Amino acid sequence: MSKSRSRTVFVCQQCSAESPRWGGRCPNCGAWNSMVETIESSVGSASPAGGLRGQPEAITRIAADSFRRVEVPIDEFNRVLGGGIVPGSLVLIGGDPGIGKSTLLLQVSGVLARAIGKVLYVSGEESAHQIKMRADRLGANADNLFILAETNLNAIMQSIQDVTPSLVIIDSIQTVYLDELESAAGSVGQLRECTMALMRLAKSSHIPIFLVGHVTKEGAIAGPRVLEHIVDTVLYLEGERFHTYRLLRGVKNRFGSTNEIGVFEMCNEGMVEVPNPSQVFLSERQGTNPGSTVAVTVEGTRPLLVEVQALTTATNFGLPRRTANGIDYSRLLLLTAVLTKRVGLGLSNQDVYVNIVGGIKIAEPAIDLGVALAIASSFKDVPIAPDLVAIGEIGLSGELRRVAQVEKRLTEAAKLGFKRCLLPGSIDDTRLARSIGIETIGARSVAEALEIAWSNRF
Ligand SMILES: Nc1ncnc2c1ncn2[C@@H]1O[C@H](COP(=O)(O)OP(=O)(O)OP(=O)(O)O)[C@@H](O)[C@H]1O
Ligand SMILES: [Mg+2]
Ligand SMILES: [Zn+2]
Repeated sequence: MSKSRSRTVFVCQQCSAESPRWGGRCPNCGAWNSMVETIESSVGSASPAGGLRGQPEAITRIAADSFRRVEVPIDEFNRVLGGGIVPGSLVLIGGDPGIGKSTLLLQVSGVLARAIGKVLYVSGEESAHQIKMRADRLGANADNLFILAETNLNAIMQSIQDVTPSLVIIDSIQTVYLDELESAAGSVGQLRECTMALMRLAKSSHIPIFLVGHVTKEGAIAGPRVLEHIVDTVLYLEGERFHTYRLLRGVKNRFGSTNEIGVFEMCNEGMVEVPNPSQVFLSERQGTNPGSTVAVTVEGTRPLLVEVQALTTATNFGLPRRTANGIDYSRLLLLTAVLTKRVGLGLSNQDVYVNIVGGIKIAEPAIDLGVALAIASSFKDVPIAPDLVAIGEIGLSGELRRVAQVEKRLTEAAKLGFKRCLLPGSIDDTRLARSIGIETIGARSVAEALEIAWSNRF
C-alpha cells in the first residue's frame, strides 16, 4: 500500500475508526459529529519530536536541557509564564473576543523586539496596516518587529525559517490552515494538525511560539480546548467586557506553577500593568455601607484583597432569585442555605445578589466567610466594621474551615491598613498576628463569626 504524504483520513474521536470521507455519523460506532480530518502520516504519532522513532535511553544518561528563560520586561506577564519564555515552548493564549489578546501580544512583541531581537507577528485576522496603526497607538514599534499577514501555515512556517526570529506570535490559530487538509480553517482537524506542526517546528528550532485562541461562548468545538493537551502552556485572559481590568491566568504550564495571575488595566495605550491590585480593587470602597466586606484570596502566590458586595431584597413573587457575579453560582446557593439553616437568617423569601467588585472571578473557597458576612450585613442592614477583613471556608454544618497561606493573607491585609481579621479559630495564631501587626479574631462557625462582627462594629 503506497501512502502519499498529503493523504488525509477522517478519524472518529470516539472509537478511532478511519474513513476516507467525512460523515456526520461514525459508520463504526454511530457517534454523531465525531469524524475529524487527520493527515495520515501523523495518525497515531503525537510525538512532540516530530514522529521520529526514538530509542529508549537511561534517564541518568540524558543530558538535562539547561534552558535559559527569556525574561519579558512586563512583570505581570513574566510571572504567569513562570519567570520567562522557555525556548522551543508552545504557548496558547485564550480569551473571549475583544478582551485584548492581540493588544497584549503586540506589546509583548514590541518590548521583546527591542530587548532580544527579531520577533515575527503573524496575523490572519488583521492587515499589516491595521497592526501598524495599533502598534503606533501602543508604542510597540521596533525595527526588529516583523509583521506577516498570512493564513497558509506552510507559507508561515517557511517565513519562520527564513526570518529565524527569537519569538513567533500566531494570531490566531483558528485562522491558519494546512492545504493538505480539506476541512476549513478553525475546524478541529485543522486546529489539531496546525498546532502539531507548529509544535514540531518549535521543538526542532527552539523558537518559542505563542498561539492566540478564541474561546467561543458555545464551548469546546471551535475553541482552544482541543489544543490544551498539545501545547506546553495555556494562559487565559479574562475580564468583564465593561470593566477595564484584565486577568492573565495560567491554567497549564509544563515549565512552571499554574494559577499565577497577572493583572492589567485596558487603557488607550494598551494593557497597563497593575502591580498593586488589592489597592486598586478596593479604591472605590465606601466602608460604611451595609452589605460590603473585604475578603482575602490567594491567586497563585499572590494575596489579593477584594470587596464583596451583597444585596438582599424581599422577593416580589415566585421563587427567590440568587445572582452571583464573580463567584460560583452553586457556591452562593450553598452559602445562602447555610445562612438560612445554621444561622437562622430568613433568606428563603429574599432575593440575594452577590458581586465581586472589579469584575474579577474568584474560585477560592477562602472568600466564603466574606460572602456570608456581606449577605448577613445586607439582610440586617447593619454595616461591617470597615477595618475588618474576613478569611475562611464555610462547611455544610456552618463550621469555619482552615485555609492555606494565612501569613500571606494577613500581611497583605495589614499592608493595606486593615486592623482586624476574622478567621477560623483553628488557625488563629496570636504570635503570627502580632508579628504582622494585625489583630486576629478566631471563630469556629459562621454564627460565631457573625456575632463577633456585630459586637465589633462601631
Ligand atoms: N483606539 C482605542 N483606544 C482604546 N482602546 C481601544 C482602542 N481600540 C480598541 N480598543 C480596545 O481594545 C479592545 C480590542 O482588543 P484586541 O483587539 O486586542 O482584542 P482581541 O482579544 O485580540 O480581540 P479579537 O478576538 O477580536 O481578536 C477593544 O474591545 C477595545 O476595548
Ligand atoms: Mg485579536
Ligand atoms: Zn466511531
